[in-house]
Amino acid sequence: MTASAGLPHPASDDEARQEFAADVRRGLLLRPRQLQARYFYDALGSQLFEAICRLPWYRIPRAERVLLAEHAAAIGVRLPELTTLVELGCGSGAKLALFVERLQRARPLRVRLVDISAAALELSARTLGRFSDVSVVGHRAPFVPGLRAAVARRPVQGSMLVLFLGSNLGNFHPPRAAAFLREVADCLRPGDGFLLGADLVKPEAELLLAYGDPIGVTAAFNKNLLARVNRELGGDFDLGAFDHVPRWNAAAARMESHLVSRTDQIVHVPAADLTVSLCSGESIWTESSYKYEPEGLAAMGADAGLVCRDQWIEPAARFALTLFTR
Ligand code: AVJ
Repeated sequence: MTASAGLPHPASDDEARQEFAADVRRGLLLRPRQLQARYFYDALGSQLFEAICRLPWYRIPRAERVLLAEHAAAIGVRLPELTTLVELGCGSGAKLALFVERLQRARPLRVRLVDISAAALELSARTLGRFSDVSVVGHRAPFVPGLRAAVARRPVQGSMLVLFLGSNLGNFHPPRAAAFLREVADCLRPGDGFLLGADLVKPEAELLLAYGDPIGVTAAFNKNLLARVNRELGGDFDLGAFDHVPRWNAAAARMESHLVSRTDQIVHVPAADLTVSLCSGESIWTESSYKYEPEGLAAMGADAGLVCRDQWIEPAARFALTLFTR
């Protein structure tokens, strides 16, 4: 892989730690108390997420893989001038590799990977290294700055497909999701595509199992956020005094992950200059995973100036892959 030009974000580990400390402070002083889901993904958290993706109750990855394998060829036909793929949040790169393998293409491909995790970029680049006619560049950056960096370097000829998979959109509250889609649309030229993988509303019992698996991997993933606060910011969270609680919020169409305090407790986080008293039963809200209706996804795209060209649904797990063009 060629290293990304430009500065990574944040510029240094120290800056990253300060940003983490400030966000922890802000979030834990809010009511309800909150921590941001983007901080799940340290080295251990990323591995725990990979483990979640193997759980039979968390069906997103397999459903999406089926759709990608089945429809990559059709997507290639829809975008005949395709020369550039940009994946936002590439993870291990396995899905993109599957897609690239099945894509009908006449020309060599340029693949641009955007992720805040250096480990994810390295792994993905290695995964894609097996294609001789594919060049790979990683951008270590948040989604939109990374996309902008990739777009700034694209050739004049050929079209681009931006992939945003795994229902990563679900972590954004609706106004943020709308703004994000507009930012993506603004990076596209006419004839470019945007491929969105998003999880659909389904029976509550299935969602509770997906986000509260019976072997406790999701609980570990959630609690690792507190462990990370302890490790990186000198916190003294007693991990044993919290329960992982997934909740379906039907009115908002979202799964919520909470860490609920089992006792009255006082927690110190020195590097965030913070002391918090938690009551027994009080929760720290760590994640929202919005679930969608197929028409709602098309409408969100339309609001951002994107045209829905195709939508494929995996009926058993209820997951949608939607292809938009500009
Ligand atoms: C990676 C954000 C799509 O919300 O389903 C999995 C993360 N959290 N289990 C999701 C997650 C708990 C996942 N996303």
